[in-house]
Amino acid sequence: MDRIQEIHRRRTFAIISHPDAGKTTLTEKLLLFGGAIRVAGAVKSNKIKKTATSDFMEIERQRGISVATSVMGFEYGEYKVNILDTPGHKDFAEDTFRTLTAADSVIVVIDVAKGVEQQTEKLVEVCKMRKIPMMFFINKLDRPGLDAFELLDEIELKLNCKVTPLSWPIGMGIDFKGVYNKYESKLDIFAKNSQVLNDEGASITVESTDDKIFDDKLGEAADKFREEYELVSGVYDEFEKEDYLNGDICPVFFGSALNNFGVRDLLNCFTEIAPHPQPVETDLKIMKPEDEKFSGFIFKIHANIDPNHRSRIAFVKVVSGVFERNKNYYHTKLNRNFKFNNPTSFMASKKEIVEEAFPGDIVGIPDTGNFKIGDTFTEGEKMNFVGIPNFAPEKFQYIENADPLKSKQLNKGILQLMDEGVAQLFIRTANNKKIIGTVGNLQFEVIKYRLKHEYSALSRFEPLSLYRACWITCDDDKKMKEFKQKNGFFIAEDKNGNDIFLAETAWSLQRAQEKFPDVKFHFKSEF
Ligand code: G4P
Repeated sequence: MDRIQEIHRRRTFAIISHPDAGKTTLTEKLLLFGGAIRVAGAVKSNKIKKTATSDFMEIERQRGISVATSVMGFEYGEYKVNILDTPGHKDFAEDTFRTLTAADSVIVVIDVAKGVEQQTEKLVEVCKMRKIPMMFFINKLDRPGLDAFELLDEIELKLNCKVTPLSWPIGMGIDFKGVYNKYESKLDIFAKNSQVLNDEGASITVESTDDKIFDDKLGEAADKFREEYELVSGVYDEFEKEDYLNGDICPVFFGSALNNFGVRDLLNCFTEIAPHPQPVETDLKIMKPEDEKFSGFIFKIHANIDPNHRSRIAFVKVVSGVFERNKNYYHTKLNRNFKFNNPTSFMASKKEIVEEAFPGDIVGIPDTGNFKIGDTFTEGEKMNFVGIPNFAPEKFQYIENADPLKSKQLNKGILQLMDEGVAQLFIRTANNKKIIGTVGNLQFEVIKYRLKHEYSALSRFEPLSLYRACWITCDDDKKMKEFKQKNGFFIAEDKNGNDIFLAETAWSLQRAQEKFPDVKFHFKSEF
């Protein structure tokens, strides 16, 4: 197979959902279909219990296991599928945003009973911003839920996504009879089954919905289905692959992940229509997967489970060319070459040494503390991938040293955890105090715990009431100076020396914006 064929057969995507909608279950079933795992339950453990905000054992376990499960690759027919895992807990939303920078498409899981939930709204907004093609999987049809039309309306209204159903449910809850798979013209009869993989047996190819088989298999439910389906054909646009790839329309499938139902329909269609690896923008030019020279970027850094070896794994998405083991690659920010003897790939949920990797693949490289999220590797060209920003955090605390003898360890630990993207560090100019900014409270506990266990440093957090920390720029140096003087106590720097405005309240932010129209306030670190 040549390089171009290798690129075109790759599907690198992320599954996103509000916690509990069934992301883990669906991931697991996709892996079962792909032959990557043999028993259900293997992925399950990769989840922080939603209730356990201070269950450190769980956090540790999650970190360890998810090194292997952060990326799960498998072969499916002619396709190579790479699933990027995203944390379910809302406090790790930023981690999910960053993972999305490496995804070429997304599957959104929605609970049929709950409809569109808060976390889904946030994540879909990021996908739309990046124009990532999205597909929806409406899950848990074996349970009573919202009417299918109502649900699709909700997706269109709340998420502002135009949809087109490629399958349609027949009944729901205890009356769930199956789905009509419009994409493949098949009638899938529902059978409760969480272990059997081959659901083909219950799939019947049909000419159209008028087929007598509907009456034979569904009885009275057939007429009701036909009535509904007529509406479906009238209301929703015909599916056009181009529209989906442009992010203008989202195909929808219905099923029950727990029962393995509708999962193969989803996977078959997904592999056929989902985009292969896409071009990515750098500050110099756009890199195409077909370009011959290797380029890639780090989108995630993971600390290793072994606390005695402070090694980390950086996850590199291959953007162009071919990544090869033991070849020198240029790290553009550090301005030096690196050679990797033991790069890993994540096939069949096992870590394996990789000899070569193609665009769309994720390679794990060992990191001894040199790398940061967003770092670019090339074959010598000086350029940096863009679009891997930090987001303005929403929770803040001062971090203090609780053991004066260990201040060096503490500082090192803080910086390394920030490079990993656990949280963001700001230094308040007025008092030189360190402020940690996060999107959720759980990160503070993670930081304290990891500083102690990995760096032998004791830290103490002090509450700090802030609304937002945002990046500020101004073309007029005089105006910037004036702004900083007027807002002295609310000025800080991030770890790269960029200017930050610490807004105490929504009102103070608004007032600052009104009073200083020349100063630009940015809510993402890339501007
Ligand atoms: P998440 O990763 O999105 O947070 O969700 P997860 O897959 O863990 O699923 C959340 C719960 O919903 C789980 O139950 C799971 O078994 C259940 N579930 C997933 N898909 C379906 C489905 O198609 N039908 C039904 N009825 N339930 C489904 P749990 O009780 O929280 O966990 P567990 O004890 O079953 O592991």
